[in-house]
Amino acid sequence: MASAVENKVKNAKLVLLGDVGTGKSSIVLRFVKGQFVEFQESTIGAAFFSQTLAVNDETVKFEIWDTAGQERYHSLAPMYYRGAAAAIIVYDVTNAATFTRAKKWVQELQAQGNINTVMALAGNKADLVEARQVTAEEAQAYAQENGLFFMETSAKTAINVNDVFYEIAKRFLQAQAQQQQNTNGMILTDRAANRTTSSSSCCS
Ligand code: GTP
Ligand code: MG
Repeated sequence: MASAVENKVKNAKLVLLGDVGTGKSSIVLRFVKGQFVEFQESTIGAAFFSQTLAVNDETVKFEIWDTAGQERYHSLAPMYYRGAAAAIIVYDVTNAATFTRAKKWVQELQAQGNINTVMALAGNKADLVEARQVTAEEAQAYAQENGLFFMETSAKTAINVNDVFYEIAKRFLQAQAQQQQNTNGMILTDRAANRTTSSSSCCS
């Protein structure tokens, strides 16, 4: 019985946000299918995928919304990030403007999103060493100041792609366990409080 409860699959809504062409769809394709294509088509609206990931004796089922980076789809984004357990904000390390755009997404999420959302900053295309415009140090410092965790990824070579999702899953499960503990704590205190009031008001 206990193991059935422990092995229960936990659903986690995850959204990818970031400028056009930064590699959001490529990261998802790498994670979900282990593939990479040189000429990935630009996403229209958003695309949905799901993938499970085992962390120790628990399983997280990611429900992934891969959003479109084109500005004309910006107004749709809240539908995907609202209520999300996790967000991956993607920029392209060879394009400084996409890092600026990533910071805007972080601001928007901090203002509109859920405070419990686990946020990751992914500096993608780390394989393009020669063309780099954003240093890892700069991005790491920004991430630290803003409560995100940071990794450089390459959907092409697969570097750190699974690791980002794994880290998110770990943090998500930790946060859930913490919330569970808090709720249990509240129920216990409530019950204790009820007992005191009922015994003092009863039967005198
Ligand atoms: P939108 O859907 O338009 O918002 O773009 P996107 O963020 O989904 O980018 P997409 O995955 O379509 O990738 C854009 C281009 O970058 C494609 O041609 C990919 O092949 C290429 N690309 C993606 N990730 C990497 C990477 O890690 N390294 C290299 N070298 N190219 C990449
Ligand atoms: Mg896309």
